[in-house]
Amino acid sequence: MIDIHSHILPSLDDGAQDWRDALELARAAEAEGIGTIIATPHHANGVYTNEARDVKSAVAAMNERLSEEGIALKVASGQEIRIHDDLLEAWTRGELLTLAGSRYVLIELPSSRIPRSTLDLLHELRMMNLSPIIAHPERNAEIASQHDRLAELVAAGAFGQVTTHSLLGGFGKRIQQTSWQLCRQGLIHIVSSDAHHVSKRGFLLGGELSRGQSTSRRKV
Ligand SMILES: [Fe+2]
Repeated sequence: MIDIHSHILPSLDDGAQDWRDALELARAAEAEGIGTIIATPHHANGVYTNEARDVKSAVAAMNERLSEEGIALKVASGQEIRIHDDLLEAWTRGELLTLAGSRYVLIELPSSRIPRSTLDLLHELRMMNLSPIIAHPERNAEIASQHDRLAELVAAGAFGQVTTHSLLGGFGKRIQQTSWQLCRQGLIHIVSSDAHHVSKRGFLLGGELSRGQSTSRRKV
C-alpha cells in the first residue's frame, strides 16, 4: 500500500516534531501494511516553508534512519503546496516537488474558499504536463456547501484526495457526510492518511477504514 499524503518528516511542520515521533509514525505505517509513504510537508501555507532541496535531504536522512532501525518502509519526497500567487514561478525556480518524482502534485486550498485563480492555475499546471491532486477537498467550506465547485476542478483535470480521518468522522459529522457524498459523486480518486502523529492523527488506512466504512456509510 502507498500513502501519498503524510507529515512524517521530523521538525519540518506540524507533523512529526522529532525523530521519536517520526519513527513511531514509521512503525505504525509498517504495521498497517504501508510499504511506501510520500512525505508531503506543508509548503507556502503562510506558516511553513519547505523547499524541494530541504525536503529531499530530510527524506534521505529519514530513509537512512529507517534502514538503521530495520523498519521496512520507504519514504519518497513530495510537498503539500498551498495555492499561492507565486506558485508557477516557484516551480520554474525548482522550489517545488511532484509526488515521488511522478507528474502528480499535491495542491492545498485554503479551508474557507476556492481562490479565483484556481482554475487558471490548474490549466497552467496541465499545460506543463502536471496532474494536480486537490488535498482533502472535503475540508474546504466552499466545496462542502457546493459540491459542483469540486466537479469544476475535476473537469479542469484535477484529482480529489480524501483523508481517512474525514471518512471516519475525526473532523466531525458534517465533514464526514461531505466526504462520503463526494466519493459517491465520483469526485474522489485517492484515499490517504494526511498522518501527523501516531495517536492524535495516525494513518487509519488498515482495518479502521474498512471496519469504519460499513458503519460510517450507514450513518451518513
Ligand atoms: Fe497534509
